[in-house]
Amino acid sequence: MTATIIDGKAFAATVRGQVAEHVARLKQEHDITPGLAVVLVGEDPASRVYVRSKGKMTVEVGMNSWEHKLDADTPEADLLALIDRLNNDPAVHGILVQLPLPKHLDEDLVINAIDPAKDVDGFHISNVGLLGTGQKSMVPCTPLGCLMMLRDHHGSLSGMDAVVIGRSNIVGKPMAQLLLGDSCTVTIAHSRTKALADVVRRADIVVAAVGRPEMVPGDWIKPGATVIDVGINRIDAPEKGEGKTRLVGDVAYDSCAAVAGAITPVPGGVGPMTIACLLANTLTACCRANG
Ligand code: GUN
Repeated sequence: MTATIIDGKAFAATVRGQVAEHVARLKQEHDITPGLAVVLVGEDPASRVYVRSKGKMTVEVGMNSWEHKLDADTPEADLLALIDRLNNDPAVHGILVQLPLPKHLDEDLVINAIDPAKDVDGFHISNVGLLGTGQKSMVPCTPLGCLMMLRDHHGSLSGMDAVVIGRSNIVGKPMAQLLLGDSCTVTIAHSRTKALADVVRRADIVVAAVGRPEMVPGDWIKPGATVIDVGINRIDAPEKGEGKTRLVGDVAYDSCAAVAGAITPVPGGVGPMTIACLLANTLTACCRANG
């Protein structure tokens, strides 16, 4: 079997187009422009790239975008004061503090200082609790993007066996909650899982979010299963020339694509959907704030 490639790039462009249409209508009919504030502390190169990309796409869909760049040694009190200011600014509908934060900052404290209604990452403890109990919440962007691709491909996910590899608060745990909400039978696997290959082989849906390059080989995949690869890992690519690198996911793409029914590529799969969902969450926050 050769897998269908789930084109996250194209799907994300469609979602961004829908967001842009809605933003234009809000502006025209209600004179409201959704706004997203992104806070970056320090100089982490990958984070800078992500933040720039988020800002660019926010503007492209017609929203207001603010970037707050703070020094790596910014005191916690200063960061909390900025968040307080953004919480109280009616033009700001979404607030995202880029993670990871420098070590001297308490990530939980900072995230939980964001107004839950503006927490477009869905990381605030209130949103985590609401999602876990099946109530209306802000849903973390990466798992939301994965769910949208799965629903688009399968229609109903009801009764399917899903294995999520990875138990992070950002991806693994909320992904499992969302799949459970769609009536999948969900297993969360991780680095201590015994007989991981056998666990993964049972799955109709595999979501790999471990951050280990090409960790899942094709012979772990049940024929016809759907594979969602959340990993973005940069590895050496000597075949492309000295010092060259390439991006790979958490699954060995070629061997998995030979067995799976459908698979997301890296790049061009989950990544673009994450930003599209961030924009969709900002629009949702704006609509909720304005009744
Ligand atoms: N760092 C890596 N992924 C994310 C994300 O989804 N949100 C935030 N705020 N930081 C991240």
